[in-house]
Amino acid sequence: MQTITGERMPKCLVTGGAGAIGSRLVQRLLHLGASSVVVVDDLSSGYEWLLPSDSRVRFVNRDVVSFFVEEPDECPVYVFHLAAFFANQNSVDHPMDDLRTNGGGTLSVLQWAADSDVKRIIYASAGCSIAGHGLDVPISEDMPVSLHLDTPYQITKALGEFYCNYYLEQVSNVRCRFFNSYGPGEVPGPYRNVIPNFIWLAMHNMPLTITGTGDETRDFIYVDDLVEGLVRCAIIDQAHGLAINLGTGHQTTIRELADSVIRLTNSSSEILYSPRRVWDKSTSREADNSRARNVLSLNTATKLEEGLRNTIDWFRQHYESIAPSCKF
Ligand SMILES: NC(=O)c1ccc[n+]([C@@H]2O[C@H](COP(=O)([O-])OP(=O)(O)OC[C@H]3O[C@@H](n4cnc5c(N)ncnc54)[C@H](O)[C@@H]3O)[C@@H](O)[C@H]2O)c1
Repeated sequence: MQTITGERMPKCLVTGGAGAIGSRLVQRLLHLGASSVVVVDDLSSGYEWLLPSDSRVRFVNRDVVSFFVEEPDECPVYVFHLAAFFANQNSVDHPMDDLRTNGGGTLSVLQWAADSDVKRIIYASAGCSIAGHGLDVPISEDMPVSLHLDTPYQITKALGEFYCNYYLEQVSNVRCRFFNSYGPGEVPGPYRNVIPNFIWLAMHNMPLTITGTGDETRDFIYVDDLVEGLVRCAIIDQAHGLAINLGTGHQTTIRELADSVIRLTNSSSEILYSPRRVWDKSTSREADNSRARNVLSLNTATKLEEGLRNTIDWFRQHYESIAPSCKF
């Protein structure tokens, strides 16, 4: 992966910084020399132990909906807005909570930033939003916005993009559309993504259940490649006002994924099948990532096999911290 050199990051704020992606982003910002990183997170799906122990990190346990930064000298240059009610199934079960955090939280951050000296907001949108299902892949940023999205989460991620566009003249922002992120930092759980859950189950020789036929595809991007994209969206002027897909441009079937996880964990788990969830109408997903390559010079190069190995190593190293949260 080509990384940014010669850039010293200024003060940053990361909402959702104790989460899977946010905590890796915080580490990266510190590595790039950020003078301070304020993390705003209510720990509803994040973990304080994921945050690096560094005097430049200030953790604020707060609901992003009532967000504000108290001390004037804390005003960040870049705001990475990752706090969210995660994700599709959770939003189907709890649509009002989803709207509150993803709609109200994003509005709150933008409203505050519009009246401050923030240089740019980087908004975590989702590749599953905006365009809907039944599409030809790869999915490009210019596809029309669908009014027939499949879950409350997709609707509120799109809502965040509407708010970003509304506030664009007041505060620069970039709408990053994440495809399926995976990697170190994501703790398994009932509402979590397929990769951490498969790894946990395989490590315990428990069955891996595929909801569907297994031929469904997703575009899995390694978390550190995605984080590199977020950093570039902050510091590259030309990203202003754009929607940018952060994905690899490759599809993997869920069956291939399950086979790889079983092989890499030396597991004796079997694969079971259950009907696809009613809201899950996307049989294939792949990002057109040409804009990220052209505007950000981003190379999302980590191969799935290498990323899975790193993730499994991380699970082994942090087993004691992860285990209490894994209720299957
Ligand atoms: N992981 C993916 O594959 C993926 C794909 C598309 C988009 N995204 C987006 O990326 C962002 C980060 O995702 P993630 O995988 O790290 O999820 P995550 O659940 O690990 O991180 C979200 C963080 O937000 C915090 N949070 C939730 N509600 C909050 C509130 N009201 N106030 C303050 N903090 C709150 C949680 O405690 C958590 O630490 C989210 O905005 C998500 O919608 C992720």
